[in-house]
Amino acid sequence: LSGKRVLLVVTGGIAAYKSATLCRLLVKAGAMVRVAMTRAACEFVTPTTFAALSDNPVSTDLFDPLQEGRIGHIDLADSSDLFVVAPATANTLARMARGMADDLVSTTYLAFRGPVLLAPAMNVHMWQHPATRENMELLLARQDHHLVGPGDGEMACGHVGAGRVAEPEQILQAAGACLAAQDLKGVSVLVSAGGTHEAIDPVRYVGNRSSGKMGFALAAEARARGAEVTLVSGPSALPSPLGVDRVDVESAAQMAAAIKARSRTQDLIIMAAAVADYTPRDPWSTKLKKEAAGARLTLKLDRTEDILAGLGAMDPRPILVGFAAETVDNLDEVARAKMAAKGCDFLVANDVRPADAGFGTDTNRVVIYSAGGGRDPLPVLPKRAVAAKILDRALGILQKR
Ligand code: CTP
Repeated sequence: LSGKRVLLVVTGGIAAYKSATLCRLLVKAGAMVRVAMTRAACEFVTPTTFAALSDNPVSTDLFDPLQEGRIGHIDLADSSDLFVVAPATANTLARMARGMADDLVSTTYLAFRGPVLLAPAMNVHMWQHPATRENMELLLARQDHHLVGPGDGEMACGHVGAGRVAEPEQILQAAGACLAAQDLKGVSVLVSAGGTHEAIDPVRYVGNRSSGKMGFALAAEARARGAEVTLVSGPSALPSPLGVDRVDVESAAQMAAAIKARSRTQDLIIMAAAVADYTPRDPWSTKLKKEAAGARLTLKLDRTEDILAGLGAMDPRPILVGFAAETVDNLDEVARAKMAAKGCDFLVANDVRPADAGFGTDTNRVVIYSAGGGRDPLPVLPKRAVAAKILDRALGILQKR
């Protein structure tokens, strides 16, 4: 979204207030945001709010002599890369579907050429009404028209069901996807993420500090670029990236089973998960009591299966990307040895000691080692940008295959 010109269209629903957050998120992502509002939208949130948040004048009126000096609606359409309608009311969707053009939003829509993202918000019965169904069918059949949400849940009107506008973060992600190059279309990608939990008893486990953020960023980026994405995740509170098939697992053994069952159909597997190397030998079936365990407790641990090494031995095998989180000074040596032992195409290694890299952070500083001998140190980058670099490299290998 960075440097892209986004036209955020706000229409008249209670959910309009959520678009203030969306506007902020878009600006934060580096987009240049212009906001257009229907008259009804101005009943819910004032244009002043959006003017301040977008740092741009807000367009509300087709016949505003100030704005129409340059034929405002054509100017607005021509100077936007993406048209986002959030929230999109049943009325606005109907007008867009039928090509009406009697206010600023509808005329701008007709004049716009580019991707359109719709985030509907309405009462569940309105959403399910045959008229709305028909309108949605018409809209989504049009080239480059995309839908985000609506979600299920309790609504302002008291009803429960489909019609809740998507969350601002989801709309942001979908907006990014609308503009991303679809260079991974048709590619199936499996990403493992997070750490595993190895049960000691029903309430305790052996775990690690992985947050899952790197793997989730990879899944979101791959999906945004058009890939079919499966995300096999250890326990994580992170929300699923939009459009990704998520498989939740707990233990290393479950993760191994989930990945192996899907490995033959993947073009690319990225092992970003911090898989436990050891698991308690005989987990207790009931909660372990101190009286029973005594003053000192010794746990016997067994080695788990090395998932990546197993994938590396497949023939034929998908493109394989490994990770290595290390706390060593000779990272080069350790990373290369690990890559060779696991048989992957490249390995993404980082020293997890600095505060700006590794577990739980939003940024990462990695070195990418390739099987051919290459070494590519990257600067500190947001995890999503690291994900993009990893996928660029994987795509290069896929294209050569
Ligand atoms: N990995 C795996 N299965 C395991 C352990 C690790 O597939 N049981 C994968 C990780 O997902 C990662 C890579 O192997 O992509 C390296 O993981 P890491 O924990 O750094 O390496 P280990 O092989 O466990 O070696 P060590 O812990 O001794 O450094």
